[in-house]
Amino acid sequence: MIDHMAGTPPRIRPRERDAIIQSLRAGVVPRIGHQHVQVGRFEEVKALLTDISRITDGGAGSRFIIGEYGSGKTFFLHLVRSIAMEKRLVTVHADLSPDRRLHATGGQARSLYAELMRNMATRAKPDGGAVASVVERFVSQALTQARDSGQSPQVVIRQRLDSLSELTGGYDFADVVAKYWQGHDTGNEQLKNDAVRWLRGEFATRTDARNALGVRTIVDDSSFYDNLKLLSRFVCMAGFDGLLVCLDEMVNLYKLANTQARNANYEQILRILNDSLQGAASHIGFVFGGTPDFLLDTRRGLYSYAALQSRLAENTFARDGLVDYSGPVIRLANLSPEDFYLLLRNLRHVQASGDPSAYLLPDEGLQAFMSHCAARVGDTYFRTPRNTIKAFLDLLAVLEQNPGQDWRALLGAVTIAPETDPDFEPLDTTDEPAIAGAPDDELATFRL
Ligand SMILES: Nc1ncnc2c1ncn2[C@@H]1O[C@H](COP(=O)(O)OP(=O)(O)OP(=O)(O)O)[C@@H](O)[C@H]1O
Ligand SMILES: [Mg+2]
Repeated sequence: MIDHMAGTPPRIRPRERDAIIQSLRAGVVPRIGHQHVQVGRFEEVKALLTDISRITDGGAGSRFIIGEYGSGKTFFLHLVRSIAMEKRLVTVHADLSPDRRLHATGGQARSLYAELMRNMATRAKPDGGAVASVVERFVSQALTQARDSGQSPQVVIRQRLDSLSELTGGYDFADVVAKYWQGHDTGNEQLKNDAVRWLRGEFATRTDARNALGVRTIVDDSSFYDNLKLLSRFVCMAGFDGLLVCLDEMVNLYKLANTQARNANYEQILRILNDSLQGAASHIGFVFGGTPDFLLDTRRGLYSYAALQSRLAENTFARDGLVDYSGPVIRLANLSPEDFYLLLRNLRHVQASGDPSAYLLPDEGLQAFMSHCAARVGDTYFRTPRNTIKAFLDLLAVLEQNPGQDWRALLGAVTIAPETDPDFEPLDTTDEPAIAGAPDDELATFRL
């Protein structure tokens, strides 16, 4: 799906075209159609393809996608996600935020889980909201098996769910799915909805869950990772090949002022990483997106946690142009001017729905646009291209709606806002000290 630059340019479906253009003009990464705009990253994609086939074969994987502000982390995560869906994985994705973390005691881990579930996607439902359809698929697969083997559906479903019960927290998870089946069998929509709500991590209290479904537990902060593992097994029972979990904006952990809270999150990452390195998890992969600070900072980043630093340390032989894509960390280089030129060509192509005779600008116009950007905002125009891409699409929109207008006349009027990294704002270090009176440096080694 990524080699279109080698052959004839593909046609672009209207739905993809509109999604791409609208998202990029709004300054966000599109959710579909990445292959039409993608430039570079071939080796990186290859590395992730290896992970995806390992996950499909019953293994696990964790990767840290590390790049400077605006270098294309989110784009890459979405690209990997869409490849994973093509390969029959279920994907979930979310941005971390102050209210969404991997470990917490005040509901923030459940909140991250719920966000992941809202964004659950499959090839048939790439835009998210796929939980109910995955459960439905589990049920229909079981019904088919029951019909083929002459057993009762009830028995088949129980047998299948039994294998969940052996995992931590699996008993209630299995019970909830059984309740969904019961709702399906008796036409009880409420029961089905409640089961889906439970799986989506939307029950806030045990009492509510007990009343609605008769189960004792809910997805809460402490069961975040266990539930993802259960889910990975469950999606396989529903006929998919595994689960890919994409977590972006990991810098939010680095920003946590409370050392204890930060370390607890890093410990969770260590668990995930160890499971995938040691083969203790199955059919599940994690892709984390973060800035170099999040990884390398020895006071607050992953490197502040000794066990992670040793596992994530970069291969010292991979320097001076030598590369190694086999380690858990993938460094994304910023786009180059050559990449940016190809990107403009791709955008022109998408805008014209894949029809070269409908291009609104000649190649010369692309070059002129780049010179204009370089003069206005310096080399950040290709290193952090969000605003430049936006400006280019705005220019195309005007050319499209004003036929006969000369691009040369318009180009001088294109304005581009320079991009600044909000993470350069000073961190708040005064907030909620971890242990009253203890200096931060001492706490950095806490738990090691
Ligand atoms: N390989 C690529 N091919 C085509 N376009 C890309 C590529 N990488 C990034 N882009 C585009 O560049 C812009 C910036 O990328 P993106 O938002 O992914 O960066 P980021 O590293 O996630 O930034 P931030 O640090 O702000 O989170 C987006 O408009 C994206 O669509
Ligand atoms: Mg991003």
